[in-house]
Order: sequence, then structure tokens, then C-alpha cells
Amino acid sequence: MARLTINGTVQTLDVPPETSLLNALRDELGLTGTKYGCGLSQCGACTVHVNGDAVRACQTYVRDLGDARVTTIEGVSGPVADAVRAAWLEHDVAQCGYCQPGQIMQAIALLTRQPNPDDAAITAAMNGNLCRCGTYGRIRAAIRSAARMLSLATEGAEP
Ligand code: FES
Ligand code: FES
Repeated sequence: MARLTINGTVQTLDVPPETSLLNALRDELGLTGTKYGCGLSQCGACTVHVNGDAVRACQTYVRDLGDARVTTIEGVSGPVADAVRAAWLEHDVAQCGYCQPGQIMQAIALLTRQPNPDDAAITAAMNGNLCRCGTYGRIRAAIRSAARMLSLATEGAEP
């Protein structure tokens, strides 16, 4: 048995401890927004947040999670997530869409840590998220847009 905190809810799963977080999410909880790509931590399709950090769910194991907070594309929320979703739509980023949940989760983790990343920081953060459709240019444009939205929102909030 494993107890995991997923999108703010404690879930008890009857799975072996060596089960990957990706399989637990998709096969046990039906959270299929997190995608299976390579299974080897090489593509980023399975990116989720663990305690706010972007991690690869395919190489994260139920036995290691303890009380960690796991957030998936279905549950991610807040101003940064809203800005990233809006920017993805503004730039019509998705093509086939398969890699996009992982791209979005990676981008949200980046902008949460670094609200105004330069090009080098975007490259460093997003480099491990592959897109077979080649949407990289639109992803970068959307991240810059989301950063602008967040900066405007912060300015607007100042007295
Ligand atoms: S499926 Fe996890 S990194 Fe590719
Ligand atoms: S949009 Fe098709 S793999 Fe990225």
C-alpha cells in the first residue's frame, strides 16, 4: 500500500513500492494528462511537480515520495499556471499535443522559481523537454509572454 498526496488529496494505492509515479498516476488514478514518452528520463513528457519542482514521473518511485506533494497537469493552479496556459493559447503552441503537458509543467516550475528568465535560463530549464513536432519556437515565445503577463500583474498589484 502507498499513500500519496496528489493534487492536494491523499490517495491510498494498492501498488508495489517500486511502482513508478507515472504508472501510479495513469494506471491507478486515471490521471492520463501526464504522458509516457521514453520511460527513461530522456524526453520530459511525464513531467510533474514534486514539492513544486519539475521531476520526471517515469523515474520517480512511489517508495521515495513519502509525504511529498505531487501536482499534475490536471491539478496545477495559481497565477503562474494561469499565465502559462493563457500564453500557450495565445501562441497556439500545441501541434499534436503529446509533449505539451510536460512542457507546461516544466515552464510553470521555471517561472515560479524565476519569473523573468533570460534566453539562457529558458534554454537550461526547457532543454530536456523534447517535442517531435518542433514547437520549440512557440514554446519560447509563450514563456516570454507568460513572464510579461506575470510582470504586468505584479506591477498592477503594487500600491
Ligand atoms: S517518459 Fe519520462 S522522461 Fe520520457
Ligand atoms: S506538440 Fe507534438 S510532440 Fe510536441
